[in-house]
Amino acid sequence: MRIATDSLPAELAERARRLRATTLHELFARDAARTDALTFDWNDWRIDVSKERIDAGALGVLVQAAEAANLSHWIHALFAGEKLNLSEHRPVLHTALRAPPSTSVTVDGVDVTIEMRATRARMADIADSVRDGRRKGATGRPLRSIVNIGIGGSDLGPRLVCDALAGPEHARRGAPDVTFVSNVDPEHLTRALGERDPASTLFVVVSKTFTTQETLANARSGREWLMRHLPPGHDVASHFIAVSSNVEAARAFGIRDADILPMAEGVGGRYSLWSAVGLSIALRTGYPTFAELLDGAQAMDTHFLMTPLARNVPVLLALVSYWNARWLGHAQRIVVPYAQALSRLPAYLQQLQLESNGKSVLRDGAPVDGPTAPALWGDVGTDSQHAFFQWLHQGTHETPVEFIVPVRARHPLGDQQTLLVANALAQAQALLVGRGEASLRAELESQCASQAELDAAIEARRCPGNRASTMLLLPTLDARSLGALLALYEHRTFVEGVLYGINSFDQWGVELGKTLAKPIVAALAGEAKLPASVDPSTRALVEHARRLASAQH
Ligand code: F6P
Repeated sequence: MRIATDSLPAELAERARRLRATTLHELFARDAARTDALTFDWNDWRIDVSKERIDAGALGVLVQAAEAANLSHWIHALFAGEKLNLSEHRPVLHTALRAPPSTSVTVDGVDVTIEMRATRARMADIADSVRDGRRKGATGRPLRSIVNIGIGGSDLGPRLVCDALAGPEHARRGAPDVTFVSNVDPEHLTRALGERDPASTLFVVVSKTFTTQETLANARSGREWLMRHLPPGHDVASHFIAVSSNVEAARAFGIRDADILPMAEGVGGRYSLWSAVGLSIALRTGYPTFAELLDGAQAMDTHFLMTPLARNVPVLLALVSYWNARWLGHAQRIVVPYAQALSRLPAYLQQLQLESNGKSVLRDGAPVDGPTAPALWGDVGTDSQHAFFQWLHQGTHETPVEFIVPVRARHPLGDQQTLLVANALAQAQALLVGRGEASLRAELESQCASQAELDAAIEARRCPGNRASTMLLLPTLDARSLGALLALYEHRTFVEGVLYGINSFDQWGVELGKTLAKPIVAALAGEAKLPASVDPSTRALVEHARRLASAQH
């Protein structure tokens, strides 16, 4: 049934009202084909949204809403390298980073893939020369210990991928050890340097802007540590590599030209792990694994670009998220990977989705006409079952959950993987069906002394069920499937942004805190008074922090 574009919002609102008044149990009972209608496959992946509070009719109207938002045009514009980041007048080039060899992406008359390929070749050389011990530090020792210094997109993506892919086999093969330092808290770098040998430590300083205060402070401290510990007269430059689009600033820091890997202005931090920002991945796992990650992402790109909206997996998942946030009013979204290797995924997705779509204005600056990205949080299963799942089953805030389950273990141990997968499926089932009064009464009747005690015992144990979830089953977690998974989330984030009508590629809100920190830094250091405009609460806190800081000495 085609609906006039003007009537789409009213139609979606009415469908949301009806579905909110229905239980998931009723939806399954009413429609024997529900699971089939709301299950989608991509290669051997399975995506089941049948436990979401949606039906095929609503999904069909959402597809029409996507068409009305001109989604296909936006998708093509993304892959064509158009200047979609309007507020910064920049193209959006993360898909160009993994474009097939025969493809060109032209921006202002220049094929940007040429420099991207050249940079990848340099990455491969650097990774090989460090891994095989050819690259040596100032004292002639091979560089075996990598410290990646960066924050936000210059940390979260490579850290997630290193964590996910670097199994015991890498350590056995003598791959360099990689650690990530992001926080300006001195504890982070101090702990990372710990017992490390300065003579074999390589700092990879990753900062698109090369102005980020946390990263520069850590890089300076790293340099001082080297200068303190290396024998006098040795040049620390061989212990640094920079990844940045601000080559001048990296050079000014003292990094040699041959050790500065460029990144394109059009690659946003949170979309940058496919660029030289992923150097630490190649250092840890080897360049071929990094290339497989890109291949996996590219496979998802092809699906996203070529598949009609109604069968397009990132689009369908985005439509469900948009439906939950905008039309059902969920202010939160929970992601639970049943994979220890993906323990950093929620943090990565927080930046990807919240920095991208945590916006209140449309592309033209007008206010948005409803909620945008919900808060996102989560943790791995099964650990989270013993933490926040109680809240999911019996708390007062119904919140959709997303389960991500690689079915085959990379390193099997007894029946542990079966236990893991079974738990994921059982939790989604428990959220759906809950536990009702009848079965509790039968179980508890003989154990309770009075009717009041029985009633209270039943109520304490009752799980309402009727709580929504999405299930994503993938065969296993390897470089290819991880690349595809991360590309899937990038595209989904983009589609949600198109549906909201916002620019998903700027992050002006982050700038305010950075600006306001400057006078506070000066005041805490006793170098300047706070400007008169500073509010009384902040002023009093600064004074108190100064007193506490000086009391330490
Ligand atoms: O958090 C804001 C932000 O600008 C992110 O978008 C970016 O990933 C991060 O800071 C780090 O920026 P840079 O790579 O320039 O140091």
